[in-house]
Amino acid sequence: MPATSPPFDAFRYAHDRADQIVWMSQNTNHLFPTEPVEKAIAQAVKERRYQGYPYAPGDPKLKQLVRDDFGLPDCETGIASGGTEALYMLARALLGPGDEVISSDPSYLIIHKFIELSGARTVNLPLYAPPYRLTPDRVNEAITPKTKMIMLIDPLNPLGSGYPEADVKGIAEIAKDRKLVLLNDTTYRDFSEHHTLAHPYHPEGTVTVWSVSKNCGLAGVRLGGLLARKELYDRIWKYNTNDLGVNVLAQVAAVAALEAKPKAFPAVLKQTRENQRRIHEAVKGWSGVSLPLYPSQGNMFVLDIAERGVEPEALQKELLVKHGVFLRAGNYLSPSFGKRFIRASFSNPPSDIDRFLKAFPVALAATEPTAKASAPVAAR
Ligand SMILES: Cc1ncc(COP(=O)(O)O)c(C=O)c1O
Repeated sequence: MPATSPPFDAFRYAHDRADQIVWMSQNTNHLFPTEPVEKAIAQAVKERRYQGYPYAPGDPKLKQLVRDDFGLPDCETGIASGGTEALYMLARALLGPGDEVISSDPSYLIIHKFIELSGARTVNLPLYAPPYRLTPDRVNEAITPKTKMIMLIDPLNPLGSGYPEADVKGIAEIAKDRKLVLLNDTTYRDFSEHHTLAHPYHPEGTVTVWSVSKNCGLAGVRLGGLLARKELYDRIWKYNTNDLGVNVLAQVAAVAALEAKPKAFPAVLKQTRENQRRIHEAVKGWSGVSLPLYPSQGNMFVLDIAERGVEPEALQKELLVKHGVFLRAGNYLSPSFGKRFIRASFSNPPSDIDRFLKAFPVALAATEPTAKASAPVAAR
């Protein structure tokens, strides 16, 4: 039998060359000041904090910082290995076979996977058309006797849609009236101009998922969690597998970053906005490319390339291998529309955006169905 080569692993490729890659594929933040975190971790290492277990329920100081950051004093704060772990826990705890969750397509599909693992199913409302978000009316229409939860990711990954206060209130009130859990995933809320938390409109039934991966530039330390009123929190936290606590150095890093955030974040936001403005300007000059939603209220948006007939996966590979620029093909985020787009995040230094702007049209031309096998390589 002829030997078959393993499929191309973009992440393996990018991690092997991490110091040369412009990382715009995972909505990570490369702008948050690193000094406070580096100092705090260095001190914790010096004190050999890693030799002992952390305080299992999580550092009380960290919990207080999170509660203060969200202004939700009536909530318990669960500390987990990223928002991801909290999402898994809540799906496991609150859902079972036959249950339905109102959600969307596109969406952050890992949450959908967790829901399916619990035996429930997602009802994915198509959002790849204006207003690119759920509305109270659409949520209402989708509810059935089996509905147990509404998933409100605000801002929404990957489109960057932000919810106006009236819609957050409307959706939360539906959840309250129908006694449904409202999953309010706020991972990107610091990038939004006017974010509204759902919790005050449905305090007993809202689970607010938070993360320091994107706002504080700490994706690698894996720390996030959830906020919920005690009764709901206790139902969820029974499913915590991290019984001995979350990585002590991660908690130290999160405390330092959250303490620095009020002063540091405005500059991060300014640069993030400027970067998306520059990309928006450039897209105007790229034929067959469009931004369905601009401005994004997150630190990412999608570039629609359907008119060019380009396969997003082929474009992702071309950008990565030929230009060292890592974006994410749409199929990771949308079963129905993933063939139309590629996602770019832009909390990056301006030099990264320069490289992206130079590479994108060249890579696009090279991956068009009519393109010759060997396309020009942009200067690095
Ligand atoms: C909407 C959404 N929720 C949660 C997460 C996971 O965040 P964490 O890194 O805290 O696990 C992501 C990560 O991309 C996300 O996009």
